[in-house]
Amino acid sequence: MTTTQADLDPSLVVDFDVYDPDLTMPVDRMQETTAALAGIGPLVWSTAHGGHWLVTSYEHVHAILRDPATFSSFPTNLVNASQGKLLPIDLDPPEHTSFRRALQPLFSPNRMKALQSRIRETVRELLSSFEADGRVEFVERFAHELPTRMFLALMGWPLAEAPRFTAATEIALNGKPGDTPEQAVESRTEAVFGMFGYFMQVIGERRAAVEAGEASTEDVTAAIIGTEITDADGVLRPLTDDELARMFFLLLMAGLHTTKGSLCWMMLHLAQNPDERARILANPDAIPAAVEEILRYEAAISMGRRALRDVEIGGVTVREGDQLLMLLCSANRDSAEFVDPDRLDVERTPNRHLAFGSGPHRCIGSHLARQMLTIACEELHDRIPDYRLDPEDPPVVLPSQVRGFARMSLLFTPVG
Ligand code: HEM
Repeated sequence: MTTTQADLDPSLVVDFDVYDPDLTMPVDRMQETTAALAGIGPLVWSTAHGGHWLVTSYEHVHAILRDPATFSSFPTNLVNASQGKLLPIDLDPPEHTSFRRALQPLFSPNRMKALQSRIRETVRELLSSFEADGRVEFVERFAHELPTRMFLALMGWPLAEAPRFTAATEIALNGKPGDTPEQAVESRTEAVFGMFGYFMQVIGERRAAVEAGEASTEDVTAAIIGTEITDADGVLRPLTDDELARMFFLLLMAGLHTTKGSLCWMMLHLAQNPDERARILANPDAIPAAVEEILRYEAAISMGRRALRDVEIGGVTVREGDQLLMLLCSANRDSAEFVDPDRLDVERTPNRHLAFGSGPHRCIGSHLARQMLTIACEELHDRIPDYRLDPEDPPVVLPSQVRGFARMSLLFTPVG
């Protein structure tokens, strides 16, 4: 039997909803709100979405993510489990393991190295499109564009597809401008179906090339299509087109919203902490550490888990079937793990943050994400080092399990 509010000490019950627009609008209050939750306890019960646990402490988030036998990854999405499983994020080991392995060829050290120059080229191209203007709406012109284009590079698909992907992914995340909430659901569904259709077409073409023996050994999409997996019954079989499309869709969305958000948080917090920005301007070698600190300081993801049995943890009893939400933003500011956690310190060490998760689902794209953030940080600080937020057009942050930006306008001294 799952937990109900009546079972609980009232001091542990709150009405926190990770999707509540008031959390981020008109100003973002996520950190102060989750700090207050952490002050109540490591596990707190929220009445939102039918009732679920909020896990606030570093120790317990870390332990839960590393224990998939007790805490299932399905559903990881608190409100929309009906869309079917995304692969491999919604699977538990051992089934998860072979799906995840199928993605490994994409992220080999050689491929990551090869992508470095593509990332720098893309960053420079995006920067050169606005650096003479002295102002930029950073989300549209940079933060959305970079991970979208890098997804295409990662898959080995033509960059000419970028405008189509940019439009479809923007709608899939936020709906169309001016949509009513109902229209937004419709627009998003349509965009998601459109992308699935595109993935199915690519898969069909590459599968035909593999079967005809015409796929190049360099073709990573073909390599994934040719992978065999061990399914839930222990049988070795090829991946189906539907499974492949679900994996590609997850790759796109998991890499997009997160990287886009981190690029924005980076600019926002460095604009608001001029002394920390001065440290990286004086010493660009500190940029990789600064990237880690931004990831710690503003972890945007709150992933879900579901208890597979009754378990005592953090002073409460979690019952079989209970849903839990990992508040990475609060875990990453836990004073039991980090000295002076609310201070942004671009050279912080050690920095064992949980922004990429932990355990079997730890972000498979973390290396690529770090590269994008590091190279973007280097080039942006080289070209437009005096950027600041536009006071006339304040940032707009959207709440959700992956909190992100709709808009952020920056002003700077024009280049050239
Ligand atoms: C700053 C950027 C990023 C952040 C903060 C981030 C964060 C995360 C986190 C916290 C998880 C674990 C989710 C869970 O345990 O339920 C995860 C998983 C994942 N991420 Fe990322 N991610 C980022 C970028 C990327 C990129 C660039 C890609 C690929 C292009 C990617 C692909 C994935 C995939 C496929 C998974 C699922 C892995 C699995 O289930 O085994 N991520 N990410």
